[in-house]
Amino acid sequence: MECNSWMHRVSAKTLIESCKGEFGWEELSRDVIMDVGCGVRGYGVQRILQLFPAVGTIIGICKDQEEVDKLKETTKKIEFAVADIEKRETLQNYEGRITKVISIHVFHQIMEKEEAFRNIYHLLKPGGEVAVLFAIKSVTYEWLTEMLKNPKWKDAYQGHYVEDLYKRELEASAYKKMVVNIGFQEVKCLGEKRKLAYPSDKDCKGKNRQGVV
Ligand SMILES: C[S@@+](CC[C@H](N)C(=O)[O-])C[C@H]1O[C@@H](n2cnc3c(N)ncnc32)[C@H](O)[C@@H]1O
Repeated sequence: MECNSWMHRVSAKTLIESCKGEFGWEELSRDVIMDVGCGVRGYGVQRILQLFPAVGTIIGICKDQEEVDKLKETTKKIEFAVADIEKRETLQNYEGRITKVISIHVFHQIMEKEEAFRNIYHLLKPGGEVAVLFAIKSVTYEWLTEMLKNPKWKDAYQGHYVEDLYKRELEASAYKKMVVNIGFQEVKCLGEKRKLAYPSDKDCKGKNRQGVV
């Protein structure tokens, strides 16, 4: 599905500001922070830099070489690397080095979530912290799935569509059990319904330009 940049910006702000409150993040000058699946716009890493300008090191990883190359062109002070959070062998340079991991709107794209969480665990220094935000269900996706069953709309739709994207999603309590089994401590998993309304009809049409709206 097309990446909704406005929603991603809001989510990056929400997650990182709640880390500040929940974990008591302050200047982070001694920290090595990793954004897993930083994306082509790098909203997470940018937000960290805005809120914590004295931050030690920020590393953005993404499995897509093209996205990493684009980010390298636009963003200074942040290290970018191609790595796949589902594949431990791609992360070896970072194991045991990271003090904080964030990940925003990535885990719903990951099929082997337990493996990905385990790999995050290996990345962390003792006492490290992790904040992950992702969608368990999406009404937009359900709507799109129904719409694409109609051949007329299927032919007209030019956007991205991943089959069975939310098929194996679990409730928040099951994710808590999963990560506690891996070894994470002091775990808080919250599932909440979020309505993200576009600022205007114009914005909504613009954001769906690859589709049929
Ligand atoms: C929807 S975008 C979100 C980007 C960014 N976090 C944001 O909020 O704007 C998902 C990103 O995760 C990356 N990604 C997906 N699966 C990944 C994996 N297994 N390992 C690393 N990156 C992954 C994709 O390449 C893409 O850049």
